Amino acid sequence: MGKDVIVACDFASAEATFAFLDKFAGCERKPFLKIGMELYYAEGPAIVKEIKARGHKIFLDLKLHDIPNTVKKAMAVLRNLDVDITNLHAAGTKNMMRAALEGLTREDGTRPLLIAVTQLTSTDQESMENDLMIHAPIDEVVMHYAKCAEEAGLDGIVCSPLEAGKVHDTCGKNFLTVTPGVRFADGDVGDQKRVMTPAAAKEIGSDYIVVGRPITAAADPVAAYARCVAEFCD
Ligand code: C5P
Repeated sequence: MGKDVIVACDFASAEATFAFLDKFAGCERKPFLKIGMELYYAEGPAIVKEIKARGHKIFLDLKLHDIPNTVKKAMAVLRNLDVDITNLHAAGTKNMMRAALEGLTREDGTRPLLIAVTQLTSTDQESMENDLMIHAPIDEVVMHYAKCAEEAGLDGIVCSPLEAGKVHDTCGKNFLTVTPGVRFADGDVGDQKRVMTPAAAKEIGSDYIVVGRPITAAADPVAAYARCVAEFCD
């Protein structure tokens, strides 16, 4: 898969999601979509199947984190949804990541891409030290988790676009960087702190950008999506 823009469908219902997707009906390019916990817990696996049936690629963002056996079994269920990318927390350890890969791999050897969350962007140095008792600098922790994910055989990580270049230097250029925290140069930053434009994310080497509100809350979501594609993919 080449560089692409993944639109975060952070909606609370199938109705709201399809009202949004219907706006793209006349578009030549079908957006790659991210389904997160909110929509998945509201609508269940049916929403994945319905969106898939409309011809979209899907990143199922459920961030699994449990004992290896439980994650393996959960991934063995998710593999039947036939999504393109799914994920887990690297903090679950290499054993958990290896078990997840086993569960995700179908009998014919195919599987969705599996990527790891390193440290959430909502975690900062202070909360990592105080709450998690991790005392290394946070960027070293992120690179260490990326390396663990690579050693476990995963395909990439979710990270800030600011870290994408260093992740590629550490784990190789084929190790995928999927990066949220993207904003247009003239857009609202909202609650995201460390942001980059689609063009800058391309420049630094992100493989996929995940874009939510700059598209979903735009007056013209189709035009906003086209702008992201023009800046990032073309
Ligand atoms: O609306 P916005 O563009 O900020 O949405 C970004 C998406 O990426 C949201 O679905 C958010 O949950 C997700 N995300 C993030 N930062 C992470 C991991 C995921 O913003 N570290």
